[in-house]
Amino acid sequence: MQYTSWVPIFPEQASTFAWQVDLLYFYLIAVSIAFSIPIVAAIIFFGLKYKEREKYATPDELHGSIVLETTWSIIPFVVSMTIFLGGAYVYFEQYTPPTDAMEIYVVGKQWMWKMQHGTGQREINELHVPVGRKIKLTMTTEDVLHDFFVPAFRTKADVVPGRYTYLWFEATKPGKYHLFCAEYCGLNHSGMGGWVYVMEQKDFDNWLAGNTSGQTPVELGKDLFQNKLGCASCHAGGPQQRGAKLEGIYGKEVKLVGGQTVVADDQYIRNSILNPASQVVEGYQPIMPTFKGQVTDEQLNGLVAYIKSLSGVTGTTGGTTGTSLSASNTATNSASSLPSNTMTPRRADRGNSGPGSNPNAPAAANSNR
Ligand code: CUA
Repeated sequence: MQYTSWVPIFPEQASTFAWQVDLLYFYLIAVSIAFSIPIVAAIIFFGLKYKEREKYATPDELHGSIVLETTWSIIPFVVSMTIFLGGAYVYFEQYTPPTDAMEIYVVGKQWMWKMQHGTGQREINELHVPVGRKIKLTMTTEDVLHDFFVPAFRTKADVVPGRYTYLWFEATKPGKYHLFCAEYCGLNHSGMGGWVYVMEQKDFDNWLAGNTSGQTPVELGKDLFQNKLGCASCHAGGPQQRGAKLEGIYGKEVKLVGGQTVVADDQYIRNSILNPASQVVEGYQPIMPTFKGQVTDEQLNGLVAYIKSLSGVTGTTGGTTGTSLSASNTATNSASSLPSNTMTPRRADRGNSGPGSNPNAPAAANSNR
């Protein structure tokens, strides 16, 4: 990887907000230097000038200086406010994903990154994205905390078991950029990395076309919903309907038994699959069984994507929309989901501890069995 940043030891600036982060960083360094040097110089100067010359000398009385005191109040105020405002701007810019972004799912696992594109292509420890497009990553992990970090994009975010976190970026130049895990996650943490390949749109389209796409997240979720898990038997309309209607639900406020309301976002849908009794929609019985331990995080992503699609919400996809469901991809799917079910050590906080175990669930809803 070549270093073409204007500071030799810095990684490239390859995203739209890289320069903002660097600017803030160098501003902080400049402020630190601007304060440190005069302070150290003053300590030495005054130490010499006012060193003890006679024992028990009585110093002259000093009276304050309004000008001096006002100056040393206003300057630090201005400096700290510029740091605060600059930091807040960069923060909100980075952690407010745009709505028109291309969505990619990321699942962390000891010790690899599994990516899935909206068009179904899967990758491990590699992520191909087009240049100049907003990319939103929806991330979760099968086991412990990880952290998705691409230094050249100057952005990172924790990947947390049991919930979704988001990261977005827009790459500004084609290239190959290091991807790291930036949260100590066990023995091979240091090896949990890879590369982000930023490509021109047409190269990206070629890449997409050259990769057999498996089921898209929406197709995977639809298959689980309608066939494999049988969700449709309760949630589809008609006389059989015993579960909440899901069409158009995404992003709306939902009234729960007990009077609370929640917004039906990714997190709510996920929680409703894993801990159905914790947030029951008003007007329905808490009869839904939990699917905790029966679905992998990738399958959960699919279910969430499918339920979103029922409300017309889709992450915009790359180029060619491949929808083939080939045998090889089915094999890949089961191969990648198998180890997670059987070999991944479960942490205490996501064990099989019943429906009320969701730490995010409101206390009142927990007693609702
Ligand atoms: Cu994953 Cu460190």
